[in-house]
Amino acid sequence: MAGRVKFDKQTAAKADKHALYLLSVQDPDSDIRFMDRVFKKERGRLPLTLREDFCGTAKLCADWVAKKADGEAWGLDLHAPTMKYGHDHYVKPLGERGARVHLLERDVLDGMTTRVDVAVAFNFSYCVFKDRKTLVRYYESVRRGLDDDGVFFTDIHGGPDAQIEVVERTKHPAFTYVWEQAVMDAVSAHAMRYISFEFRDGTKLNRAFSYDWRIWTLPEMVDALYEAGFARVDVYWEGATSSGEGNGVFRKVKRADNEDSWIAYLAAWPR
Ligand SMILES: C[S@@+](CC[C@H](N)C(=O)[O-])C[C@H]1O[C@@H](n2cnc3c(N)ncnc32)[C@H](O)[C@@H]1O
Repeated sequence: MAGRVKFDKQTAAKADKHALYLLSVQDPDSDIRFMDRVFKKERGRLPLTLREDFCGTAKLCADWVAKKADGEAWGLDLHAPTMKYGHDHYVKPLGERGARVHLLERDVLDGMTTRVDVAVAFNFSYCVFKDRKTLVRYYESVRRGLDDDGVFFTDIHGGPDAQIEVVERTKHPAFTYVWEQAVMDAVSAHAMRYISFEFRDGTKLNRAFSYDWRIWTLPEMVDALYEAGFARVDVYWEGATSSGEGNGVFRKVKRADNEDSWIAYLAAWPR
């Protein structure tokens, strides 16, 4: 678990990039609380089964079954070494419960046959799909894999700042997380993103993660979800602190100001 990793003597050569990624960009506990709240409100019960697309280390799957006595989770990803890391660090420590996490080395476009209460695509991973036809095909695969009363949750980063060159540094106690956005091609909306980590001893894990993305807008995603057969798409917008930072509280909205940089969840319901 990330909490057990010693960060006081971090140096690039010995750094665990997955542990640093978890500390910097993931918050599975908040994701699960949000999904439970919305699902319970809509369906009158808590969800039990999860499909995590683009699961990477499948930390969300592991936390899902750790939290839910009858929970079961499937993680889909193409990159076997990352999934192995997740199995060894997050699933194995769960003991018997770990048997209820199933890691499938698979293209998310192929989906899976077991139907679930909740499917997710988080941290904007669907941006690997560069054209609308493939995005719709992906959403169709998700919809087919949902129970009739299931839901698909995904997230989006938007606002003018999502379309420009950015280097943003966030300091953590023993390292600095660096988010880098390269220039976006205005014609195709393709842009590279990079994650690097800098350490107190001056060393750097340069571009530990690289993403070759299409920067989808929120209305484009909503339109594609309806085209894929979803009956309703809700937008959950993050509230702000008095200093204008995101406060982690997401509420359903019909409209929102296009602030410089924002994060939202979408909830797509098959019925
Ligand atoms: C940004 S990471 C996401 C990790 C984690 N889900 C999260 O929320 O932070 C993107 C992952 O998507 C995987 N990936 C990219 N294209 C894929 C595809 N077509 N099918 C399955 N996995 C894919 C990559 O191997 C990588 O592990």
